[in-house]
Amino acid sequence: MINSENITQYIKDTAVHGDIYTDEEIFKQEMTSIFEKTWVYVGHESEIANSGDYKTTVIGTHPLIVTRDSDTDEVHVVFNRCRHRAATVCQQEKGNANYFRCAYHGWTYSNNGDLTGMPFQDGYGEEFDRCKMGLIKVPRVGIYQGFIFASLSEEGPTLEEHLGNARPYIDYVVNTCPEGISLNAGAHKYRFDGNWKLQVENTIDPYHLSVTHRSFFNLMSKKTGKKINFSKMHKNEKIRDLGNGHSLYELDGDLGIGALPFNLIVFPNLGFLGSQVRVTWPVSVNKTNVFLYPIMLKGASVEENAARLRKHEGFYGPAGFGTVDDLEVGFDRVMEGLNAKGKDGEWLEISRGLEREEVDEKGIITATSSDEVSARALYKAWKKLMTADDSNVETRGKKHEPTVGRP
Ligand code: FES
Ligand SMILES: [Fe+2]
Repeated sequence: MINSENITQYIKDTAVHGDIYTDEEIFKQEMTSIFEKTWVYVGHESEIANSGDYKTTVIGTHPLIVTRDSDTDEVHVVFNRCRHRAATVCQQEKGNANYFRCAYHGWTYSNNGDLTGMPFQDGYGEEFDRCKMGLIKVPRVGIYQGFIFASLSEEGPTLEEHLGNARPYIDYVVNTCPEGISLNAGAHKYRFDGNWKLQVENTIDPYHLSVTHRSFFNLMSKKTGKKINFSKMHKNEKIRDLGNGHSLYELDGDLGIGALPFNLIVFPNLGFLGSQVRVTWPVSVNKTNVFLYPIMLKGASVEENAARLRKHEGFYGPAGFGTVDDLEVGFDRVMEGLNAKGKDGEWLEISRGLEREEVDEKGIITATSSDEVSARALYKAWKKLMTADDSNVETRGKKHEPTVGRP
């Protein structure tokens, strides 16, 4: 059985064991030790801009609804689970509704989670308190620059502390446009048969660009007449370990795949790259859902936003050149290769550039862009959470207090 002590045998400073991508017990432990403990991104305010707007999402494998209260405009994050017999009460990706009515026996909840009615209520005894039977709220919700995060843990760092050195880069994304940004244009979605960490790692892995995406960059060279010098690029570009599992890749010039001058990973599963916000949902140990939300500039012309979308689609879109390369080479082939378990051959390297890292006065670790700084940053946070001894902390499997009805 995996626990906070024996998990250490799967991770070293220079390599991670292949089982962390394939072992179901390790996946379950990740869901409780990481996704139920840290802050997880659940949506952007622009997706629920109006009173009564909602979207469904997940934290780890918990289905949730993010709503904007019809009366107060407050943002709520509630478990998508009927208090009667556990059916999900909302199946739509997004919409606007004052109420969620469970389709099984008809219990009805307002969009702040309160239970407002059920058919044939006289069947319940005097002890039954409707005020205590609302949809369960997640213990903590925080909003940073319009990005909504939730934590299933009642304790732990504040959202600001968790975001730490990643904050100025989130500020940058939002300040791209004086009127702000919107993530309400829909999303590209895909599912792959592989572990969620492969997608997160791949969000900052410039080492693979000139190999996996060679055909794309060859085509770009033909189109623009400019050839990318990858050796020079890797000398000039930097990757930074921002702490708490977050990392940053600073681009040198325009690779032709988007608008942001950096890729940013916000641990555990949020990314900013190109012109998109990327959200990775673990489904099971070998299934992952990915959502790419194009970042639209509020108040910008239709042409400007359309140009951003076209550039995004060219590399990341369903008929683009980039995502398909990554899906086959970076995920399918890795999952296939992980089945080969020869003695001493079960470790995946994350050591590249370890000896040329530099640390500044803030503790930010930097090396060049072909180095595996980002993977090391990810696995430092992974290890910290996976090995945290929570035997004295009653957060795991904690009973959340029932939602109390509004006065
Ligand atoms: S499961 Fe929702 S009303 Fe019965
Ligand atoms: Fe890629």
